[in-house]
Amino acid sequence: MIIHPAIPATADFAPRLIHWQRGHGRHDLPWQVSDPYTVWVSEIMLQQTQVDTVIPYYARFMARFPDLAGLAAAPEHDVLALWSGLGYYARARNLHAAALKVMAEHGGVFPRDVEAIAALPGIGRSTAAAIAAFSFGERRAILDGNVKRVFCRLFGVDGWPGDKKVENRLWQLAEALLPADGIRPYTQGLMDLGATLCRRSRPDCPRCPFTDDCIAHRDGRQAELPTARPRKALPEKATVMLVLRRAGEILLEKRPPTGIWGGLWSLPECSPDEDPVAAARRLGYAAEPLAELPGLSHTFSHFRLAIQPKALAVAPRQDGAREPGTLWLTPAEARQAALPTPVRRIIDSL
Ligand code: ADE
Repeated sequence: MIIHPAIPATADFAPRLIHWQRGHGRHDLPWQVSDPYTVWVSEIMLQQTQVDTVIPYYARFMARFPDLAGLAAAPEHDVLALWSGLGYYARARNLHAAALKVMAEHGGVFPRDVEAIAALPGIGRSTAAAIAAFSFGERRAILDGNVKRVFCRLFGVDGWPGDKKVENRLWQLAEALLPADGIRPYTQGLMDLGATLCRRSRPDCPRCPFTDDCIAHRDGRQAELPTARPRKALPEKATVMLVLRRAGEILLEKRPPTGIWGGLWSLPECSPDEDPVAAARRLGYAAEPLAELPGLSHTFSHFRLAIQPKALAVAPRQDGAREPGTLWLTPAEARQAALPTPVRRIIDSL
């Protein structure tokens, strides 16, 4: 199956990758079993997050939700609480929604058909293929960020992989390179090669089984491939987070179900132009400023948020507006809730 005659690696890419995976790939990851629920949860967690970060979250998640029916039956809030700190919370909401859909439309049995898998919330073409390959041995091509990087370097594919034409070319390669047999070690091998050797920075070319075939290595272009996204400066936004303190407790507010940090517990906010004391009064509390807290910054995929926490003391007996989505919690209790990462950092710093 020579798809690019000028590149020797394409002819026997799959058997060489499988051979390398068996000897040098990862074999003891906790989700390496052929159970679709296990594979699905791990693939969702691994979508934007590295293995080392995922492992403890995955262990806690599986201890609390050992099967799909249990996940579907849980309140979304419990799922978000276990996700707290992993980021990209739409993944958790989609996971829960997908569990409900599998219960409603597939009788609680995770579907085997890749089209049906890809129709579940939060599962794109590559994730559906990974789930089908790992759990059912289906011969399907994956193309996640790691695999794009491997292919761009090995085959010298120029252009930003987010560009449709480049992406289509990479999918063509991914499909054409698939082995007749051994889809599991092949798929794992692609992921392992990208994560452990063909890393974004400082790739370990001397240990790579494809160095002699790699266009990027030949041309010394490892740092240039894959081509970076054409740069637009991220817009900056600013907010003030009110840390209202009353008798050892902090006021938390549940965010609306959709949008940034949807459904998570956060601190009340006001604009940097507003007086925090006036903002507290708006919430129904007479408050006095406490010592300054350091500012922090949080980067989302599409903007950067500068956060200035403002601590304020509220007199012990005030009840405030008693908004339904608000809670007074001790810092220890707050840490158990589904918090956005910067809110967790602020509470940890108190
Ligand atoms: N990244 C995405 N899926 C993965 C998997 N199954 N194992 C290791 N890293 C991954």
